[in-house]
Amino acid sequence: MKTIAVIPGDGIGKEVVPVGMRVLDAAGRKFGFTLKWNVFPWSCEFYLAQGRMMPEDGIKILKGHDAIYLGAVGDPSVPDAVSLWGLLIPIRRMFRQYANIRPVRLLRGIKGSLANLKPGDIDICVVRENNEGEYSSVGGRMYEGTDLEMAVKESIFTRKGVERIVRYAFRLAGKRRKHVSSATKSNGIIHTMPFWDEVFWSVAKEYPDIRADQYHIDNLVAQFVLHPERFDVVVGSNLFGDILSDLGPAIVGSLGIAPSANLNPEGEFPSLFEPVHGSAPDIAGKGIANPVGQIWSGALMLDHLGYPEAGKAVEKAIEDVIGDKGIKTPDLGGSATTEEVANEVIAVLNMA
Ligand code: NAI
Ligand code: MG
Repeated sequence: MKTIAVIPGDGIGKEVVPVGMRVLDAAGRKFGFTLKWNVFPWSCEFYLAQGRMMPEDGIKILKGHDAIYLGAVGDPSVPDAVSLWGLLIPIRRMFRQYANIRPVRLLRGIKGSLANLKPGDIDICVVRENNEGEYSSVGGRMYEGTDLEMAVKESIFTRKGVERIVRYAFRLAGKRRKHVSSATKSNGIIHTMPFWDEVFWSVAKEYPDIRADQYHIDNLVAQFVLHPERFDVVVGSNLFGDILSDLGPAIVGSLGIAPSANLNPEGEFPSLFEPVHGSAPDIAGKGIANPVGQIWSGALMLDHLGYPEAGKAVEKAIEDVIGDKGIKTPDLGGSATTEEVANEVIAVLNMA
């Protein structure tokens, strides 16, 4: 049995998380494991009542779990910086979830935004460094409000930090199509990016059977659009990985289907699984949110927890429902509800 901390959060998070749990329970029955769910109401609503996004000992409470399953956090009544820095960022940093994984796959039954692509043509996994790089808090402002006003922001790249994310990318590629591409900009950003490249190539030497190449980020975003079929695993710093991991879902159709994992690969702390999308206040409460991103994130969680076959079965069920049965929510051009999509996924899982 695995114990999972559940944080539905706000908006459509509260709609897609419960159906995601039902799908994963169904997978558990089929594959012979049990998930024990502990649900926590930490959210913007919680903040408005308690003055904090989570209790003071929130991190300690989560620490005892095997994984965290999160919906989305954010509400127009609370500044986004408060909800993000009060919950998600502390979890990612305190639990050393340094690998942010975002699979980008063109599913059957979904028209991507590029012409002439068939399902199967795009199967990329973006691996984003999640703990350091450009998203450091080192820096500051001086001479505010004068004509000398200035802002300084330091990027932080440590050998340990770059090595572990690059090594994660190579290990992942070993289980896929054995190809890693590195996002860099060592021609313009002259201290940190040549260092990134140096570490990348030294790690690459440890994996002689895996093809390695590097692209400057400006060219890489162009290649994502022109030749997405060329890529397998793509590894990037915090900023470059962030950009690539939004471009990816955009070319394969909808934000509503995109999954992500925030991993502590060593298993010292729980990892966190969440869809890429936010709380979508514009459609919250209508029962039409696409649950696929949440369900697919659950499949990544099953894989991480040691149930890879169950994870694969859930992914396949999603694709069968969208591709073969054509049951889709309105964001994908269909008319099904959140519940209907989830019920179909469960039905397909049970039949497999
Ligand atoms: P969003 O992802 O919530 O919504 C963007 C657009 O995509 C909206 O039109 C929405 O209706 C649509 N959409 C998103 N997910 C969908 C789904 N599953 N099914 C159908 N349509 C879907 O991003 P937005 O509007 O920028 O942010 C809304 C709130 O969510 C903000 O408070 C923001 O801070 C928060 N947010 C939270 C994230 C997280 O918890 N990790 C990530 C991104 C945003
Ligand atoms: Mg982003």
